[in-house]
Amino acid sequence: MAKSETTFLCSDCGWSGEKWYGRCPNCGEWGTVNEYHPPKNTLSHSKNSHSVQRSSLPVTNSDDLVHRVTDFTDNNMKSQMRLQTGFAEFDRVLGGGIVSGSVILIAGEPGIGKSTLLLDTANHIAQTTNKVLYISGEESVSQIQMRAQRIHALSDHLLLASTTNLETALTLLENEHPDLAIIDSVQTIMSNDNEGISGGSSQVREVTRSVISIAKNFNIPTLLVGHVTKDGSVAGPRTLEHLVDVVCQFDGDPQTALRMLRATKNRFGPTDEVGCFDMTDDGIKEVADPTGLFMSDSNLPSDGTCITFTREGHRSLPIEIQSLVTTSVLPTPRRAVNGVDSSRVSMLVAVLYKHAHIRLLDKDLYISTVAGGIAKEPSVDLAICCSLGSAASGCPIDHTTAILGEVALTGEIRPLPYIEQRLVDAQRMGFTTFIIPMRQVIRKEERFKSLTIIRVATLAEALRALHLTTRFNHQGR
Ligand code: TYD
Ligand code: MG
Repeated sequence: MAKSETTFLCSDCGWSGEKWYGRCPNCGEWGTVNEYHPPKNTLSHSKNSHSVQRSSLPVTNSDDLVHRVTDFTDNNMKSQMRLQTGFAEFDRVLGGGIVSGSVILIAGEPGIGKSTLLLDTANHIAQTTNKVLYISGEESVSQIQMRAQRIHALSDHLLLASTTNLETALTLLENEHPDLAIIDSVQTIMSNDNEGISGGSSQVREVTRSVISIAKNFNIPTLLVGHVTKDGSVAGPRTLEHLVDVVCQFDGDPQTALRMLRATKNRFGPTDEVGCFDMTDDGIKEVADPTGLFMSDSNLPSDGTCITFTREGHRSLPIEIQSLVTTSVLPTPRRAVNGVDSSRVSMLVAVLYKHAHIRLLDKDLYISTVAGGIAKEPSVDLAICCSLGSAASGCPIDHTTAILGEVALTGEIRPLPYIEQRLVDAQRMGFTTFIIPMRQVIRKEERFKSLTIIRVATLAEALRALHLTTRFNHQGR
């Protein structure tokens, strides 16, 4: 039996339900839930001239549409050639450059440097006599010019436009037919035909769909900027990400000038590459060899410090953990922790005593991460133990060694998720030795042939591998 078809839809997060709410039950936004009437005919529904044009394409001759896979001979492949961005790091993340007609989403937190990266990229590409159109919905043309001057991106073939109107942006793309288009950002462009709020998910989806349609029909590779919310998703729901060909996350530690670019989805290349950049006063520079950026200023390893990799959203971050162990003069020894989980530290102190014979129960312990880093996931357990073991024994751990693994109450070292991502990043940053759990499975391990990977089954084994226990016994407790 046919039911009542009234549906309510949140214009911000895309939630749908049969009841109206003043506040969306999914995203919590006020006044975004509206009655939704499904279009009778989705093909002819949109007033957007581009959609109409597409829907009216003759579909009579299937020969026009169907091709053999072998039709792509070398000549045909020319149209598939990739545009080099001028940043070897960027090209590598994309899988060798920008594929023609592809739409790439560059997602990142506001202020991280997306506009700077793309303006620099636009300049590199324009310098090789390619026409680049940079459309900004965030800044006026004079503001973009000022930025371009600052970063010396002053190429004749770089065209600038400032608009927040989707239809104007699409017309510009059609008329100018550039070799590369940049739209900054998808949240600031609005369609007249869409009733959703600016930057809301229905507007963002409409803008993305229309840009993709133009990019594919006119073969214009397009870089689309998308601001991410605090939880790391683009425009609330991830609905946008499946529409585009490539999604690149651009993020970095606000404390440093280091920025990392990685593809989290790539129809034309790998998703486990990471590109490193440095935000300088005159633009963004690629960092081909980021060794040393995460080390503390001293080049000499000192006892009590060790490095691990944590995972945050799509990125993994190297975190240096420092420990100081001193004899306590208090009835209850002091435990001061910063950036690590204090209840886990208590547990690890007990495990160190029980399974590695390192007695810290009556010592004052100070454990901290460098530069306010957060290392609260279980996979940093082993690094905390090794840092404590190093501080207690007075034996330093080499700065090119990274330590990964969760410590169980039995003293066993348990596997951790996303090891490959952490290894790729650590390898790129110049780490050479990894202490990892014995039972850890690594996909395509042959990629890491040049690294020394030491597998340990127990906490005691890990401490032995780092030569911490011998020294500890000599120094006494
Ligand atoms: P921006 O590219 O505008 O960030 P997004 O587009 O991701 O919002 O970069 C903003 C920050 O970058 C701003 O705080 C200033 C800094 N910056 C530099 O450090 N060097 C530069 O050359 C430029 C243009 C900006
Ligand atoms: Mg910007």
